[in-house]
Amino acid sequence: MNNNSSALLSVEHVSKRFAGLQAVGGDDGLTFAVDKGAFIGLIGPNGAGKSTTFNLLSGVLATDTGRVCFDGRDITAAQSHKCAACGIGRTFQTPRVFESLSVIDNVLVGADSAGERLLGALGRSWRVRESETIEQARLALERVGLGSYSDDPVTDLSGGELRMLEVARQLVREPKLLLLDEPTAGVHPGLQERLAELLLNLHRSGMTLLVVEHNLRFLLALADRVLVMSQGQLLAEGAPSEIRSNPAVISAYLGDDHAV
Ligand SMILES: Nc1ncnc2c1ncn2[C@@H]1O[C@H](COP(=O)(O)OP(=O)(O)O)[C@@H](O)[C@H]1O
Ligand SMILES: [Mg+2]
Repeated sequence: MNNNSSALLSVEHVSKRFAGLQAVGGDDGLTFAVDKGAFIGLIGPNGAGKSTTFNLLSGVLATDTGRVCFDGRDITAAQSHKCAACGIGRTFQTPRVFESLSVIDNVLVGADSAGERLLGALGRSWRVRESETIEQARLALERVGLGSYSDDPVTDLSGGELRMLEVARQLVREPKLLLLDEPTAGVHPGLQERLAELLLNLHRSGMTLLVVEHNLRFLLALADRVLVMSQGQLLAEGAPSEIRSNPAVISAYLGDDHAV
């Protein structure tokens, strides 16, 4: 039981199996807490269970055991639209785009308070959006460095730019907790710098961040605390400097080609 009163998110003994394979949990389930306003890095080798953890926290998957509390509510059984409405924003490891829509319309899909519902996007009423929402979407695109592409077809964007679009889509909702799954993958260095600046600004503005990242150099320079997962369990937790020199962490990464 985690009684940390300053926690925005608390994950208690959570587990998930896929066809008998334990993806998240281990013997006692996964337990950790994220304080309000924290910038937490979540790292671990491929297959450690990081993306599955995000899926459990954002209601994309149901937990097998344990409890998830967010902002004073038990959201263990909440589905994704409910988690989004509660203030949890997340991006996916593989960006999700609607190919027939423009860049800004793809952001507006995420701005829909009904969550991932597409009916509004495909219906005629789509264009009659409140100008305030459209303005917010433009602002979000500017913040991630895609301002000049707003009206272009989304298919014109590169893979890295699509990742930034995913971030913009979440920003419009002004989530209390933002979960980013490998935001730098395929993103060119210029945009990565912009992303780092953006994450620091969001952190300074009080947003709580939980970021999965393979680029440890990028993440350890930004996060104030790091959780390390291995085989579905928490292997270590600490400040970036502690994590860099933790022998268990180094050993979990051996054979992995990502330098700390
Ligand atoms: N939908 C799924 N069905 C079956 N197995 C899955 C599914 N999603 C993830 N897994 C398995 O769960 C484990 C953890 O995966 P994942 O959470 O994607 O790891 P990470 O994001 O840390 O690389 C892996 O063994 C993966 O193959
Ligand atoms: Mg993953």
